[in-house]
Amino acid sequence: MTVVAEGRPGGATVAEGDLLLQLRGISKNFGAVEALRHVDLDIPAGKVTALVGDNGAGKSTLIKTVAGIWAPTSGEIRWKGTPVTIRTPREADALGIATVYQDLALCDNLDIVQNMYLGHELLSHRLLDETQMELSAKQTLADLSVTTVQSVRQPVGSLSGGQRQSVAVARAVMRDAQLVIMDEPTAALGVSQTAQVLDLIKRLAERGIAVIVISHNLSDVFAVADRLAVLYLGRLVEAGPIDAYDTQRAVELITTGSKNGGVSPNGGDAVSGAGA
Ligand SMILES: Nc1ncnc2c1ncn2[C@@H]1O[C@H](COP(=O)(O)OP(=O)(O)OP(=O)(O)O)[C@@H](O)[C@H]1O
Ligand SMILES: [Mg+2]
Repeated sequence: MTVVAEGRPGGATVAEGDLLLQLRGISKNFGAVEALRHVDLDIPAGKVTALVGDNGAGKSTLIKTVAGIWAPTSGEIRWKGTPVTIRTPREADALGIATVYQDLALCDNLDIVQNMYLGHELLSHRLLDETQMELSAKQTLADLSVTTVQSVRQPVGSLSGGQRQSVAVARAVMRDAQLVIMDEPTAALGVSQTAQVLDLIKRLAERGIAVIVISHNLSDVFAVADRLAVLYLGRLVEAGPIDAYDTQRAVELITTGSKNGGVSPNGGDAVSGAGA
């Protein structure tokens, strides 16, 4: 279990410094329901990790333990190699973890700038610094190549689903998030909006941000992900580079949880066997 790269001289496949988030033995029970069972998962910086699994597999529960919504029943979360306890979304935010939920938690009646700065408004001489906030909001959207928004003073309620998603992501980027978690970001989107959001996800990774994307859409997953992690009935059955999978294999893992061998996921056993 405790076979991570710790203290091992350069032998691990992913350098320790690149592992932003490490989950070790994460379990979560809701009464008699074991929503997560001893999940080990590594999340590297600058990569998109797709988290897949059937309904009820535990995907949302897993990200909620990282987002500060649920405390795990047992297990350890390490952030940049240090064990952390993430008790609230605010604590997650302070570490640099931003979660974009499907319903997005944006305020429809506020404009884009107000949404991007909600709760963290810039002040100048004790007044809101509207000019600076507007400039930074525009700049962040431009940096992310979000070009379809006509005005940052538009109320968010008037935006399309893809644009809303973009605003929520831009808000996370502006908050200096190092890990952006997205729960089914394209589920409610049309074709071109989906393409727009997938593009945005890739640009986040290019900026060195770690991204975890939950999706039921395997063509989206294969279009955007660097790594795949499959949950089945609360267990992580496999995690690895996306190139190691095709759609058929992914479907098989998602629907049956089957895998060759029977070792623990995430290379744990491979590490202990590699010492010789
Ligand atoms: N607050 C809760 N109370 C009790 N049980 C819960 C709670 N949240 C989730 N569960 C249970 O935990 C399991 C995992 O649920 P979770 O929402 O994480 O699945 P999921 O993989 O996100 O599924 P979906 O693809 O349908 O969104 C399910 O059996 C669910 O019923
Ligand atoms: Mg879910």
